[in-house]
Amino acid sequence: MTHNLLKGKRGIIFGALNEESIAWKVAVKAAEEGATIALSNTAMALRMGTLDKLAEQINAPIIAADATSVEDLEKVFTEAQEKLGGKIDFVLHSVAMSPNVRKHRTYDDLDYNFLNKTLDISAISFHKMLQVAKKLDAINEWGSVVALTYVASQRTFFGYNDMADAKSMLESIARSFGYIYGREKHVRINTISQSPTATTAGKGIKDIDNMMDFADKMSPLGNAVAEDCANYCVMMFSDFTRKVTMQNLFHDGGFSSMGMSLRAMNQYAKDLTPYEDENGKVIYG
Ligand code: NAI
Repeated sequence: MTHNLLKGKRGIIFGALNEESIAWKVAVKAAEEGATIALSNTAMALRMGTLDKLAEQINAPIIAADATSVEDLEKVFTEAQEKLGGKIDFVLHSVAMSPNVRKHRTYDDLDYNFLNKTLDISAISFHKMLQVAKKLDAINEWGSVVALTYVASQRTFFGYNDMADAKSMLESIARSFGYIYGREKHVRINTISQSPTATTAGKGIKDIDNMMDFADKMSPLGNAVAEDCANYCVMMFSDFTRKVTMQNLFHDGGFSSMGMSLRAMNQYAKDLTPYEDENGKVIYG
């Protein structure tokens, strides 16, 4: 069921790679709700992924860009306004990559060139997008910008590695830029902190399946899936959230407020129950 929540609005969505991508689901939902959209991803992602299919499905232009390049971003914001016929109302930053995670470098053995890349791609690109948009005056008053983040920005999660630092910075940029852009242009900037989700980026995180199972067992509402996240993004782009800005909004089924759940406790207790090995020796988990 659609509600025309984004009727007449124009948006740019960065980071849809394939059908699993959160950005993909957001683009589909936003189009269903009446928005016209421009899609952007790297030239490499356009070759490796299936963005053409999405572009055709929702009749959206694709503008190739490396989100770390200010020049590329200028092109995206300029061309998107030309192709969509006016200023932009909403932007989704759904971009992340850690070469340290990819190359299995642990947090106490980081490659610092890789770390710079992690931060540039996953956090500073957000600042670049906002600065470019503001200098070009590309976003309408009361426009809405959302970036996707993860709770490892605030609490330590095994295996999340230098992406945790990138997410902390991303959330900080939303606050710092949110003040300036809000004061001057009434543009609102928020981050949505999403449950672990099985996407290409998600699957790169160590033991993502176990992490997803743990989060699911801890969350009273269960994990939020990508479609749920898309619904939340649409609401954040809509006029119903005009006074929400500079927030990190948890969208995680309640996970971030939990300490221990019955389901997680039961799972944990299973591992503590003594059992006998094949030689009859009692083993305590
Ligand atoms: P995804 O792999 O589908 O999306 C990541 C995107 O980043 C890809 O489209 C990739 O091409 C793009 N990207 C990488 N380097 C880029 C660059 N230099 N310039 C432009 N784009 C670039 O995975 P997913 O999960 O949909 O990720 C989207 C966002 O959601 C990311 O910020 C991720 O950290 C965040 N998130 C994901 C969670 C998960 O468990 N999957 C949980 C919470 C947040």
